[in-house]
Amino acid sequence: MSDFDLELASLRKVFPGGTVAVDDFDLQVERGEFISFVGPSGCGKTTTLRMIAGLESISSGGLFIRGKDVTHVPTEQRPTATIFQNYAIFPHMSVRENIEFGLRVRNLPGPEVKRRVDAMIDKLELGDVADARESVLSGGQKQRLALGRGLVTEPEILLLDEPLGALDANLRKSIQEELKILQRELGITFVFVTHAQAEALSMGDRVVVMNAGQVEQISDPFELYTRPKSPFVARFIGRNKIIPGTLASADAKTAEIATDFGALRGVPSFDAASAAAGSKAMAVVPSEYVDVLPSGAPVDTADGALDVVTGAVQSYDRVGQVVYIAVELTNGTGVRLETYREKVEDRGIAPGSQVELRWKPERTTIVLDAA
Ligand SMILES: Nc1ncnc2c1ncn2[C@@H]1O[C@H](COP(=O)(O)OP(=O)(O)OP(=O)(O)O)[C@@H](O)[C@H]1O
Ligand SMILES: [Mg+2]
Repeated sequence: MSDFDLELASLRKVFPGGTVAVDDFDLQVERGEFISFVGPSGCGKTTTLRMIAGLESISSGGLFIRGKDVTHVPTEQRPTATIFQNYAIFPHMSVRENIEFGLRVRNLPGPEVKRRVDAMIDKLELGDVADARESVLSGGQKQRLALGRGLVTEPEILLLDEPLGALDANLRKSIQEELKILQRELGITFVFVTHAQAEALSMGDRVVVMNAGQVEQISDPFELYTRPKSPFVARFIGRNKIIPGTLASADAKTAEIATDFGALRGVPSFDAASAAAGSKAMAVVPSEYVDVLPSGAPVDTADGALDVVTGAVQSYDRVGQVVYIAVELTNGTGVRLETYREKVEDRGIAPGSQVELRWKPERTTIVLDAA
């Protein structure tokens, strides 16, 4: 028995026909955490959410909510509420009736229903449209109605499956902020599914990256961004620069790989004791840590020993103060970098320039490449 708000223990889903949609999913969530699930289409996000909600049976493994085994508990007896991408609002009912609907099946006394529904309409600022139907609601109002219908049941865990997918970019941003504030106020656990990595990282206290039914990494957003544990995460999250090579040496703190540019160093994402020299590996550096300088520019010794790769500028795009530079490295691979105008113009960097990309090795993560 655990004290976690939500616990998935080796959760697995095999659909009839044999598709393994989710495999060996372990997750422990503290009360009041905001957890994002992110991954490409078909990786098993919705299936996992539906198993938590009890809308999909669990093939093997266990599911616990506040320490109680709910693996085989029917959906209506679980303290969860789900918001779907299309909201599933009843078009023939008013806003008020839609919110009430969630409480009907619970046999609450009339005055209690009214109190809760009024409070929810108030909280989500839906008073002006309380008697309106879905067809006249804005995107943001529909989104809040869907939230209200879930929250009125006072769930312990709110499950949200791409709830912002239908909204335009500006509205999406502001609702992201509202959702985050609402979650803090309520103090309940949110499990939030998205396939947009920026959204997952900005919303989640922790982010679960999924790939092909498997969990690749569970970390807080900064850790995920700066210390990927697998090639998939390195490529999926952020704008990492990735240089392939083979492992030369590793201890607990530092690993070195041999690359087309000589030795590159970094913090190993793996257990050094179990990694053999010669294994395929990659150096992963977040773009923000990469500096672009003309070839041969003096090194500021205060920075310590930097790692360097060399190439030539192919093209250069300016958008206001930001510049996007495409560099062809000397081994023929292309990289794109985003930096500030004065940083490159003052240094005389232009298309055709020979350049060095430099960074501090402690910013680099060395990841083993099983492929
Ligand atoms: N009812 C079902 N029967 C058989 N296979 C299914 C069923 N539902 C989903 N799958 C399969 O399970 C896998 C995971 O699907 P799931 O819907 O969980 O992915 P997802 O990560 O939510 O994707 P998306 O981002 O497109 O919503 C996919 O291969 C999918 O085809
Ligand atoms: Mg889905």
